[in-house]
Formats: sequence, C-alpha cells, structure tokens
Amino acid sequence: MFDSFLVVGSINIDYNVRVPHLPNPGETLTGKSFSRAFGGKGANQAVSLARLLRESKEKVFFAGKVGTDDDGKNARENLKINGVSTQFISNSENHTGMALIEIDDVANNRIVVVPGANGDCDENWAVATIQNYCKLKPSIKTCFLFQLEIPIASVEAAIRTAKDSGGTIILDPAPAVPIEKKLWSLIDVVTPNQSEAQLYTGVFPKTNDSAQKAALKFAHMGTQAVIIKAGAIGSWYFDEKEQWFCPAFTVKALDTTAAGDVFNAAFAAARGKDMSASDSLRFANAAAAISITGEGAQSAMPGYDTVKELLQAQPKIVPRQL
Ligand code: RIB
Repeated sequence: MFDSFLVVGSINIDYNVRVPHLPNPGETLTGKSFSRAFGGKGANQAVSLARLLRESKEKVFFAGKVGTDDDGKNARENLKINGVSTQFISNSENHTGMALIEIDDVANNRIVVVPGANGDCDENWAVATIQNYCKLKPSIKTCFLFQLEIPIASVEAAIRTAKDSGGTIILDPAPAVPIEKKLWSLIDVVTPNQSEAQLYTGVFPKTNDSAQKAALKFAHMGTQAVIIKAGAIGSWYFDEKEQWFCPAFTVKALDTTAAGDVFNAAFAAARGKDMSASDSLRFANAAAAISITGEGAQSAMPGYDTVKELLQAQPKIVPRQL
C-alpha cells in the first residue's frame, strides 16, 4: 500500500527527570534520576517507523529543523543511525528544540516543550519540502505523518500540499491546538488520545458509547477514519464501514513517553504492509505497549519481530467489532 513514509514535524532533545510524583504548583521536589535522550514527536515517529520497517524496502524520511548546535548534529546523526533519511532536515539559527519531561513512579508523565528550531518550520519551508519530496518519490504511494509540534499554519500548508499530491495523510493532533475547519476533510486518519479527542469534539471517550460519539463528531468534521488512543484501556478504530475496540496488552510500564508516537508509526507501518484496519490496530497497540517498558522516548521502540512476539504471546488480546 505504501512504499515510503514522510514524517513532518518536531525533533527535540528530551531532559527526563524521574520524580516520586508529579509536583504540585509551588512544590519543590527532589528528582530520583536525570537523563538526556533523543525525542520530539516527529523524530520519534520516524525512528519508530524505521525500526519497524528495517527488514523491508520501505523508506522513511523525516522533515524538520534543527539548530546548528551540537544537539542538532547529534539528533540528525541519531536519525541516520536508526535508518531514517535526513535529507529534508534544514538548519535554523535557533537552538535545537528541547523538552522537559517529568515521569512519576507509575509511569505518568508531564512534558514542557521549548520549540526552538521547530518553531522556525514556516509555511514556505513546509510547502517547498513537500514539493521537493514529491519530485523524489511517487507521493500517491506515500504515507505522510504529521503532529502539531511545529507551527499550525505550516502543518496546514503541508497537509494541503501533500493531499494535492495524492498521498495518504495521518494526523496525530498532539499537542492539541485549534485546526482550520476545512482541513479536517483532507485527513485520512486522525489519531487523538482521550484528552485531544475531548478538545476537538467536546466528548471525553472512555467507553464504546462515548468513543463512538467522539468519532462521529470527527466524521462530521470530514475526517475519513478516527483512532482514539486510550493508553491502559486500549484503542478504538472507526471509519464509514468498520468500528473496532482493541484492549491494551499487559506489560510492565516504566515510562509512557512517546507511546502515542509509536502507536502512530506502527499503525502506518501495518497499513503500509496491507494489513486490515483491525490487524493494524492490534499491531499498533502491541508496539505502543512494548515502547513503555523502557525509559526515554526511543529506547524501547520495537522492531517488527518484537511486536510479532508480543502478538503471539497474548493471543487473547484481539480487536472486537462494535
Ligand atoms: O511524544 C513524546 C515527545 O513529546 C517527547 O519525546 C518530547 O520531545 C515531546 O515532543
């Protein structure tokens, strides 16, 4: 179905601090440990895709901006090491993006992002990048993955250009910000988590009924398919013909950072291999579950075989038709 993937978005250096609990306003806490790691929702999705597709011929490209600082050089290098093409990364005068991440004892997190170079991904850059990509690859067979950690006007311009070229558009609306109304009908699959779904639809999805209501609102807005990611509950898939719920796989959660990014990458990878919507949902659930068993955004992102092992180990976790 897809022969290449272009992820357009953010690239960050994450500053991870383990804390006994997420601090209250005005509270000073002693952290348990500190680490620096590669992150950014866009870069995470690209790395996850490349790991999942390593054995096949698909190609993963990342487009974004980094500073000319050491963080930028290292972040670029990390993508290359993971098998991601960096030819659509540009330099910015700004510092490379960074994120401060607090993770508590039960693996919940809180993230503050300072965009830096990500904020310099302007509309002209976004349109030119998609056009240059389309000269290189047949976009009709491309899956374009977007998130909202670069300026929203640039994401909107990039989606319009990508859709004109005939590609498939997957939007992870994270972090949630208002989106131009006309844009929703250009999106093939939107993948909010529960709070993002609530922000766009007014419905907090936590049961089949509420998830159906939220999905219907997205459908009325114009989106073709909706996935709602609900962490430890599982995830839902809705389109015009099919409705599925897949419960979460059982794993020992250490750090949930980037689980949503891995979910998106895995769903795209599975669809790219022509898996059905329900099999892709199960595959994405499993990949996201594995990703939370290690610390940091990218350390536990699985390859294809590791996901297959979990699918085989927990055969009773299967999607149910609604
Ligand atoms: O989705 C997780 C990511 O969000 C982190 O890697 C951090 O960089 C923020 O962008």
